[in-house]
Amino acid sequence: MLELTGLHKTYGKSVKAVDDLDLTVNKGEIFGFIGPNGAGKTTTIKMITGIINPDSGSIKVNGISLNADPLGAKQQIGFVPDTPSMFLRLKGIEYLNFMGDMYSVSTADRQARIEHLAKEFDLTRVLADPIQSYSHGMRQKIIVIGVLLHQPPVWIMDEPMTGLDPRSSFTLKQMMREHADLGNTVFFSTHVLEVAEKLCTRVAIINKGRILFCGGMESMREHFRTHASLENIFLELTSDAE
Ligand SMILES: Nc1ncnc2c1ncn2[C@@H]1O[C@H](COP(=O)(O)OP(=O)(O)O)[C@@H](O)[C@H]1O
Ligand SMILES: [Mg+2]
Repeated sequence: MLELTGLHKTYGKSVKAVDDLDLTVNKGEIFGFIGPNGAGKTTTIKMITGIINPDSGSIKVNGISLNADPLGAKQQIGFVPDTPSMFLRLKGIEYLNFMGDMYSVSTADRQARIEHLAKEFDLTRVLADPIQSYSHGMRQKIIVIGVLLHQPPVWIMDEPMTGLDPRSSFTLKQMMREHADLGNTVFFSTHVLEVAEKLCTRVAIINKGRILFCGGMESMREHFRTHASLENIFLELTSDAE
């Protein structure tokens, strides 16, 4: 579960990247955080994952305050960033073992999960190669595997579909569903609306740091009294974005 209350973040003196954001994401949900470029999605995610501090407001991860107990809160989280360019000198398998060590995953669990997940993502044959030699999509997939090794109660991804081929993207969506069905929280940002529309239990639309709508697809259509697609509602809501 994620509880964001009154989050603010301003860069420099004037760029209000996140402006009084409130959001609750429940266990068992796949929650889509959608908005145009520059809306404040990455900034919000960086605050949730403790990479940057909010100017004000509070963040709780499964009831644990990020401010009061940063390590405890972060232990609940598995994070897939938008730029998968870490640990490039490590071989795939070394990175996965590093993640397993960090989160104290037992050798048996680790081996079984690596074998299963690498097969799902068609990475088995490159596990012995340095991550530097991987494509963007392959780097993303190795990071996803690293995250899922420790089965985080809260799985957060920033634009996870970018760079994935259709089969990998399909596999990832399945993994997200399975993870949520186990009672975990899945939260991801995207500007790919079809993905959000098909996959999410609820979405929030963010523009200029503020949430314009939060709810399920049905309630969104009721709210806007329309049968329009998410795409049309999104375009309408964010029409002055650029
Ligand atoms: N490190 C930074 N320094 C200054 N401004 C930033 C920085 N990161 C993001 N911004 C600005 O904050 C706003 C929100 O950016 P971001 O959170 O990256 O949006 P999104 O992920 O939705 O595309 C944008 O106006 C962006 O230019
Ligand atoms: Mg972003």
